[in-house]
Amino acid sequence: MKKSFRLLQIRSATIKDIETIQAIEQAAFAAHVIREELEQIFNEERGNAFLAHQNNTAVGYLVILYENLDEEKLQPLLRKAKKRGEPIMHDDTHIKKGSQLYFHLLGVLPSQQNKGIGHKLLEHALATLPFDNKDLERTTCVRVNNLASIRLLSKVLRMSMVSRKSPPWEKINGHPMLGSVETNFNASSKIEPITTPSRVNTRKIWLPKYKQPKDNEFLVAITHGEEDELDPAVIEQINQVMAFTGEALEGKYVIRGVFKGIELDLNPNLSYFYFTKV
Ligand SMILES: CC(C)(COP(=O)(O)OP(=O)(O)OC[C@H]1O[C@@H](n2cnc3c(N)ncnc32)[C@H](O)[C@@H]1OP(=O)(O)O)[C@@H](O)C(=O)NCCC(=O)NCCS
Repeated sequence: MKKSFRLLQIRSATIKDIETIQAIEQAAFAAHVIREELEQIFNEERGNAFLAHQNNTAVGYLVILYENLDEEKLQPLLRKAKKRGEPIMHDDTHIKKGSQLYFHLLGVLPSQQNKGIGHKLLEHALATLPFDNKDLERTTCVRVNNLASIRLLSKVLRMSMVSRKSPPWEKINGHPMLGSVETNFNASSKIEPITTPSRVNTRKIWLPKYKQPKDNEFLVAITHGEEDELDPAVIEQINQVMAFTGEALEGKYVIRGVFKGIELDLNPNLSYFYFTKV
């Protein structure tokens, strides 16, 4: 294999890349982001997008927003797509313009995942955004057991998981907003994560039967999974983590990082959230 095959090239995406972005999104999530959402981002300069190519094939993309999407315009289109039975991706955003960078969409082709492309896309974006972003809060929301994504958010974007995402409560034209769901965490760079295993001082594992945690820091075992896959064990796990975080995350504890069992000399088949008291 020639070395150039492995060369990863990252560039800014433009409106001409919409189909490519949608194709990666479809492959990564089995759902697509509607064209009008991406058009809004490009035409109205609400954010920036980046594409990663390997050997001339698009393998990953990232969209960062610094302004909210126009939900009044998008929601009727999203509802129509949903009515047609199209699996759609939509993340309703609440960005404080001028003080936050919102990491809106990130996807890597399944065949190329876990090879460092996500890392490189995020690093490239931070280094090349067309404005100084180092004092802005980095924020996003992420599904509670999307462990690869949570790992990237903490390691590259220096975010902790600080609260649960509330279900979209707003109504637009009388309809409840379609958006990301309550099985998500809100992530923020306002609380420094812990990303080095040697800095995890505890091996105490919290279990749901303990109800209120008593320690200032502890671990919660978690496995990677899809929200809508039919594995009842994963659903149960999400429910347990959400029930727990409902009590313990809001304002009391934050998740400072996710570690593989092997990194903590614990069960190598599991990963662990590291919780600390705020
Ligand atoms: C999330 C996603 C973008 C990551 O991209 P990627 O190119 O695979 O990411 P990278 O290879 O750069 O990094 C993945 C990290 O997660 C880690 N990871 C993977 N599975 C893990 C697990 N079960 N537990 C802990 N860490 C895990 C990897 O080890 C790696 O971290 P490391 O380099 O510190 O070891 C990609 O998996 C994807 O497209 N998923 C589907 C779409 C999606 O979920 N997008 C994000 C929505 S918020």
